[in-house]
Parts: sequence; C-alpha cells; structure tokens
Amino acid sequence: MRYLTLVFVLLLSISWATSYLTQETFMQCMATQFGPYTKFVEIIYASNSSSYSYLLQSSQQNPRWLNSTTPKSLLIITPFQESEIQAAILCSKKYGLQIRVRSVGHDYEGLSYLYKTPFILVDLINLRTNEINLEDETAWVHIAKKNEIHEFPAGICPSVRVGGHFSGSSFGTLLRKYGLAADNVLDAYVINVNGEIVDREAMGEDLFWAIRGGGGASFGIILSWKIKLVRVPPRVTAFTIRKTLEQGATKLVSKWQHIADKQHEDLFIRVIIQDVGNGTQKTKGDPLEVLLDRTLHKSFFKAKSDFVKEPISDIGLEGVWDRFLKEDMVFMIMDPYGGRMNKIAESETPFPHRKGNLYNLQYLVKWEVNSIRASNKHVHWIRMLYKYMKPYVSRYPRSTYLNYRDLDLGTNKEGSMSYSEARVWGVKYFKGNFKRLAHVKSNVDPNNFFRNEQSIPLLPEY
Ligand SMILES: Cc1cc2nc3c(=O)[nH]c(=O)nc-3n(C[C@H](O)[C@H](O)[C@H](O)COP(=O)(O)OP(=O)(O)OC[C@H]3O[C@@H](n4cnc5c(N)ncnc54)[C@H](O)[C@@H]3O)c2cc1C
Ligand SMILES: *[C@@H]1O[C@H](CO)[C@@H](O)[C@H](O)[C@H]1NC(C)=O
Ligand SMILES: *[C@@H]1O[C@H](CO)[C@@H](O)[C@H](O)[C@H]1NC(C)=O
Ligand SMILES: *[C@@H]1O[C@H](CO)[C@@H](O)[C@H](O)[C@H]1NC(C)=O
Repeated sequence: MRYLTLVFVLLLSISWATSYLTQETFMQCMATQFGPYTKFVEIIYASNSSSYSYLLQSSQQNPRWLNSTTPKSLLIITPFQESEIQAAILCSKKYGLQIRVRSVGHDYEGLSYLYKTPFILVDLINLRTNEINLEDETAWVHIAKKNEIHEFPAGICPSVRVGGHFSGSSFGTLLRKYGLAADNVLDAYVINVNGEIVDREAMGEDLFWAIRGGGGASFGIILSWKIKLVRVPPRVTAFTIRKTLEQGATKLVSKWQHIADKQHEDLFIRVIIQDVGNGTQKTKGDPLEVLLDRTLHKSFFKAKSDFVKEPISDIGLEGVWDRFLKEDMVFMIMDPYGGRMNKIAESETPFPHRKGNLYNLQYLVKWEVNSIRASNKHVHWIRMLYKYMKPYVSRYPRSTYLNYRDLDLGTNKEGSMSYSEARVWGVKYFKGNFKRLAHVKSNVDPNNFFRNEQSIPLLPEY
C-alpha cells in the first residue's frame, strides 16, 4: 500500500515536471517567435497564473465540462494579433502539443476548451474587429452586429464571435428567406496548418467550401469572415410560439408541422414546447437565449437534434410529452425549413439538410445542480427520448446539425482515427458531403494536426 502511494506520488511529480517543462519551453518558443520587445507575457497564462482559472471559466457555456477531473490546458493564450496565433500554431507543432481554439465557448460538448492529451488553449477573446461597409452591403466580422435594414442571417445569439458558429453553418430566423449564415459568406481569412494567413483566393475553393459548414476546427483557425449583408423588408416576420404541455401542445404542433414550411419565405414561425416545472421563473426567454445570458448563472445541459420529413402523428407527440413529464427542465425547439432552403443544393456547402425537411428539431434538457448521478440521469433521459423518436424523424442517415454537437453519435479515437469509423457520425452531420470534407482535410492538413473528437478524418489512402 505504502509502495503504491510512493509510486503514485512519483508519477504525479513526474507529470508535474513534464507539464512544467513544457510550459517553460513553450513560452520560450513563443518569445523566440516575437523577439524580446513584444508583450507576449501578457497573452500567455500558465496554469499557476492567478488569471488562469478565471480565463478558463469565463467563456464556456456548459459548466458540465469544467470540474476537478477536467484535464486543463497547459497554457491559455489570448492573442491580440494574428502573428501571435501563428506563433502558437508553430510552437504547438514543434513540441507535439495540440491546439484548441475558442471563440465564445458555445460548443455543446466543450470541444473548444477540453482535451485529453496536453494542449494549448487559444482563446480569441481579444480579437474583435468589425468593418461594416454599407455601400457595397458587406461586412468583415468577428461579431455579427445588426442595424436597422441590414441584417445578417445568423443565429439568434446577439453577441456571437462567429468563429465556430459560422463554420458550423449557423441559422436563425432569416433561414427561410436567406438560408444559413454560411450561405452568405463571401470570403474568409484563415491561418492554415503551416501558419500562413490565407484568404479565399489563396486557400482555394475546396477549403473555402469546407470551412462554410464543415467545422473550422478541422482545417485551421478562422480569423474573420466577409459576409453579405441582406436587406430585410419590413414584412419579414419571425415569431415564436411557446407552449407548455397543459396548453394544448399536441394540437399546436400537429397543425403547425403541416403548414410552417409551406408559408411564404418572409414568415418564420418557431415553436417551443417546454416543461420547466419548478424552473419556470428562471426561463422566461428563449431557452437558447437563457443559456446565453451571462447575467444568469449557466445551466448544465445536454442537447440533441433531428430533422423531420413527415409530420409526426398525434400519438407520437403524446409519447414525447409523457417523457417530458418525467423531467424538470426540458425543451423542444422546432424551426421550420422550406423557402430558400429548398432552392440550395445539398452539396452547395457541407450542410446537406436542405430540400425535403419540414423542420429542425432540437431537444434540450437542463439542470441546476450537477453531480455524476444527476448528469447520468438527465443524459440517460435524453438518450431514451432520442431512441423513442427514431421512427418519426429522418433516416438513412438519421440527420443532425453540427452546431448542436452530440458526441453520443460517435467520436474519433486519439491515436487511431479511422475514416470508416468516423463515417458513422460524419454522414449524420454531412451526408454525401462527408467524403469531400475528408478529401479537403487530407489535402490541407495531411498530418492531422487540427483534430478533435469529431474532426474530419483523413481519407484512408493518405
Ligand atoms: C446559447 C446558445 C445559443 C445558440 N444559438 C444558435 C442559433 O441560434 N443558431 C445556430 O445555428 N446555432 C446556435 N447555437 C449553437 C452554436 O452555433 C454552436 O455551439 C457553435 O459551435 C458555437 O460556436 P462558438 O465559436 O461560439 O463556440 P466555441 O465553443 O468557441 O467553438 C465551437 C467549435 O468551433 C471551433 N472554433 C471556434 N473558433 C474557431 C475559429 N476561429 N477557427 C476555427 N475553429 C474555431 C472550436 O474549436 C470548436 O470546435 C447556440 C449555442 C448556444 C450555447
Ligand atoms: C509560475 O511558474 C513559473 C515556473 O516555476 C514561474 O516562473 C512563475 O513565476 C510562476 N507564476 C506565478 C504567478 O506563480
Ligand atoms: C467533469 O468533466 C469531465 C470532462 O471534463 C466529464 O467527463 C465529467 O462527466 C464531469 N463530471 C461531472 C460530474 O459532470
Ligand atoms: C418544486 O420541486 C419540489 C421538489 O422537487 C417539490 O416538492 C415542489 O412541490 C415543486 N414546486 C412546484 C411549484 O412545482
């Protein structure tokens, strides 16, 4: 027993030593990249820094992923300049470390700030610029900002620094009129695996296609997007119907799902069915807005999504509500498709869920007090709901939306990533576009430096 403890202490101090050495070495590498007069010290935070845990916590959305057992990044880097990101990539490659990039930390599974192997967290919190040119109706953005007539067809979040968001497609209430945010991207600046900054022309159409929906994290670090601002005529209307189970949810959904996708594209009617039991007062706004609201404390959550192609029967819906009653805070968010979405080909961007979908369905369960037991219980509940929904939603493949990331669908194994294993979840997000994504990946990042639990794998022949 005593011997075991000794071994344990020894192992612990060895791993401390390695992480200490790596930090030092990495900082030296960064310093070499910049020369002596740069302010690199102020952008690199080692895990013993007093700001480290504040930084780690500050921009993350699902507190499920940060607890005492979470493997922490060796360093957090908060670059002000592009060159500092380039240096971080080069130094990470040099020392065999991984990089995680975080824009806002909205990733449902925490992929922007978690990793099992030693990694560097690049948090883009200090990189914000916004050039809106109303004359040619374009904007270079890190943040999608609105004005009166010019809108941007992104999601509902008012303050998204759009790195991950746009690269996963992003949709909001202008979806039926203008498609996805990714459909309105005109150009982008990306730092590639060689540390070079490339725009659309320099990166080529293949990579430009891939980052508009394939998830940026597989391909590089996106610095900015050039987007087409769209004119929103006054008649465009978007509203949300919110119902609890007692308010006739079956009748509403039953009717809505027959007509919502066939409305004029100026009309977007989102439906949210919720059962928030005791939590009612805390959840006045949209469930997603409530998650976003930084003044409220963040809730633990798990979500899943589906696409619906045929109206769900009343009996099917009643079965959902029966399950809802067994949970405390649950939401089902239904966003109508049709309109512009029917006119864009499945292969136009990596997002293939276009014509033939009546609506997108997101299930979300939230809880306030976490423990392994609580988390297992709620996650089990939503997995059972997902299983129950199988006959009512898209199949071959059962489709799902990348930005509502769900690691239950499958993950890459560190060290032995395989294309054929990844295909299982890959086609759910991308259908036939998955192969092309793997092809682009193999060309632009042949050593698979930019990888995560659900990054695009290399093709087998590479
Ligand atoms: C409150 C809330 C509201 C939401 N509302 C909507 C909505 O209305 N519509 C919608 O479509 N989706 C919505 N989502 C889902 C959202 O689009 C995804 O969570 C998206 O991945 C968030 O991207 P992020 O950059 O904010 O998050 P992050 O967690 O920072 O990043 C997500 C992924 O992108 C990678 N990444 C981040 N920045 C970069 C970069 N610069 N270059 C390359 N890779 C990068 C990360 O490494 C990670 O893999 C919402 C999510 C939340 C939590
Ligand atoms: C963190 O550790 C390094 C290496 O021991 C040391 O140089 C640095 O001063 C420490 N920083 C703080 C804030 O303790
Ligand atoms: C703590 O975080 C890890 C991942 O960082 C996660 O796997 C684990 O489930 C979390 N624990 C709880 C109690 O939620
Ligand atoms: C809230 O929850 C508690 C315990 O779960 C329960 O005893 C109480 O009746 C609930 N209150 C309401 C208003 O539902």
